[in-house]
Amino acid sequence: MRLPRYFADADRVQDLESRLVTCMVTLQGFTPEEAKRKPFSGTGAPMIVTDPFSGVGQRSVMTDLVAWIASESRGMTIAPSTSHPKERLAYQAGEKLFYYRAGPYDFGCITCHGEEGKRIRLQNLPKMTNARDAQRAFGTWPGYRVSEGELRSMQWRMWECIRQMRFPELEFTSDASIALITYLAKKAEGGTFDAPSLKR
Ligand code: HEC
Repeated sequence: MRLPRYFADADRVQDLESRLVTCMVTLQGFTPEEAKRKPFSGTGAPMIVTDPFSGVGQRSVMTDLVAWIASESRGMTIAPSTSHPKERLAYQAGEKLFYYRAGPYDFGCITCHGEEGKRIRLQNLPKMTNARDAQRAFGTWPGYRVSEGELRSMQWRMWECIRQMRFPELEFTSDASIALITYLAKKAEGGTFDAPSLKR
């Protein structure tokens, strides 16, 4: 389980979703806009796919693909690479973002994920700087969220926490999203990948 990592052809650190976008564009003939058009499924979207990348219909083929590919890594050790300078840069950027506080509530990731045993409503909030918490948090996405009746990806989790922070919308497969995921992957190093999982 080595993503995110540096890919020479894209000259960039990529997570699974951004890698899929590259393959869809360079090998399958999609435009980047088409490949990124439907990153997340609608809540409780039916399993029927009519036109996967047109944005018509509720299902995200991207998320479904991610879940299947990730499932092939189940049981593997989380082992992100930091040998390439751009990988180290992504980690450092992710760390900066994790501690960066802003917005109307002056929130940073650290506000909710920086202490042991914190909860919102009844949800336990993982402390990401604690290896065991980070391993569980990172190694269990994508997951099926019972509360939404829907399969969700790590890109979605980042997008949703950023939204809860009232930050500007996190762009799908942006450098910022990949930096955050790189940071989390490194914190989870050594854990066992155990996704797709079941989430609240
Ligand atoms: C306002 C509080 C808050 C902030 C700030 C916040 N989160 Fe979250 N985060 C949550 C909640 C609530 C959950 C869902 C917990 C649950 O349902 O189990 C969550 C879940 C997660 C998970 C999944 C954990 C798991 O065990 O499945 C990850 C990863 C995560 N957040 C990362 C981040 C990152 C990275 C940031 C900063 C960009 C961030 N969060 C900022 C509240 C927050």
